[in-house]
Amino acid sequence: MTNQLRIDRLRREGTLPREEMRRLLTDMTEEDAQVLYEAARSVREAAYGKNVYLRGLIEFTNYCRNDCLYCGIRRSNRKAQRYRLTEEEILDCCDKGYLLGFRTFVLQGGEDPFFTDEKICGIVSRIRARHPDCAVTLSIGERPRESYEAFFAAGAERYLLRHETIRPEHYRKLHPRNLTIENRVRCLRDLREIGFQVGCGMMVGSPFQTVEEVLDDLYFMREFRPHMIGIGPFIPHADTPFHDRPAGTLEETLHLLAIIRLMHPRVLLPATTALGTIHPLGREMGIQAGANVVMPNLSPAGVRDKYMLYDGKICTGDEAAECRRCMELRMEKIGYHVEVGRGDSLVNREPALYSGKEKT
Ligand code: SAM
Ligand code: FES
Repeated sequence: MTNQLRIDRLRREGTLPREEMRRLLTDMTEEDAQVLYEAARSVREAAYGKNVYLRGLIEFTNYCRNDCLYCGIRRSNRKAQRYRLTEEEILDCCDKGYLLGFRTFVLQGGEDPFFTDEKICGIVSRIRARHPDCAVTLSIGERPRESYEAFFAAGAERYLLRHETIRPEHYRKLHPRNLTIENRVRCLRDLREIGFQVGCGMMVGSPFQTVEEVLDDLYFMREFRPHMIGIGPFIPHADTPFHDRPAGTLEETLHLLAIIRLMHPRVLLPATTALGTIHPLGREMGIQAGANVVMPNLSPAGVRDKYMLYDGKICTGDEAAECRRCMELRMEKIGYHVEVGRGDSLVNREPALYSGKEKT
C-alpha cells in the first residue's frame, strides 16, 4: 500500500493497523506530507471551519514538587527563579484578558502544594463569578479524585494533563520513581468521569521515544477519546538531566498533528508555544496541518521568563495585548479567523475509557 492510500484509509476509518501506521510514520516523503496536511485541513474545516480558538494562558506558579527529568521548573533545578502570582494578580490577568476578547482562561502551574484545593477552588469560583461567560481550564497536575471533584464543583470545566507517554518503561525513563503512568491514567479517568472536558498528550521526540512509543500513544488516545490533545516538540533545557538531548523536530510534530486530526476529527488541538519555539512559523504550520487552537500568554510580563520549561521559549518579553494582536495577525495571514467564543469541544462526552489493552 502507498502512503497516499494509507492516508485515505486513515481519513475514512479514523485509524490504521499498527504496521500500516508504522510505515506511514517512518516512510513519509515531502509529497506524502503535503497530502496528509491537506486531508487534515479538510477534516478540521468540516468540523470547525476556519476558526482558530483562543485560550489565555496564565502560568501562575513555577514552584513544583515534582522532578520530571525533562522539565526546566523541576524541583532540582536550583537555578530556576521561583514565583507565585497572588490571587489578585491572577484575577487581574483574567480581567485584562477578558477585555482583549479571551473567553477561556487556562491556569497552568507546577505542582505547587501552596495552592491547596481550597485556594484553587476560591480562585476558580471568583473567576467564574466575575466572568460567567468564560470557561476555566486547569492544568495543575496530579491530585486525588476528591480534589478534582471540588474543582469541578467550583466551576472549572476543563483539565489538561498530558499523559506524556503511555509505555510504563518509557515513563520511568522520563520521571522519578514516585511518578507512574498508572496514576496519570487514573487522574485522566477520574477527570473524565467527573465531567471535565479532558486533554491528554505528549512531547514529540522526547528522550528514548521511538516509533513504538508513538504508536502506543496514538492508539491510547484513540481509545481514550479526549476532548483536547496537547502535543509539541520536546526541547532541552540547559539545567536538566536532558540538557544535551536533541529536540523533537518540526516535521515529526506536524506529521503527528495531522495524523491526530484524522484520528480525532473534532478534537481541540493546539499549535503549541513549543512548536513556535523550534520554528518562527511553527504555530502557523501547525494550524495548516490540522490544529485549531492557539494559547497566547496572559501572564504578567515580569514573570514570563521565569516559567522556562525549555530553552528559548518565545513570547517571554511581550504584554498580553501584543500577544493577542500578534496571534490574530498571524492567523489572518494564513487565511484563518481567531474565534473569541468559549469554543467548547465538539467531541461527545460519551466515556470510552482506556482498558489497558493495546489496539491496532
Ligand atoms: N504541572 C502540570 C503537569 O505536569 O501537567 C502542568 C505544567 S507542565 C510544565 C506542562 C507540560 O509542559 C508538560 O505536560 C510537558 O509535556 C511540557 N514540558 C515540560 N518540559 C518540556 C520540555 N523540555 N520541552 C517541551 N515540553 C515540555
Ligand atoms: Fe513539575 Fe513535572 S517537573 S510536574
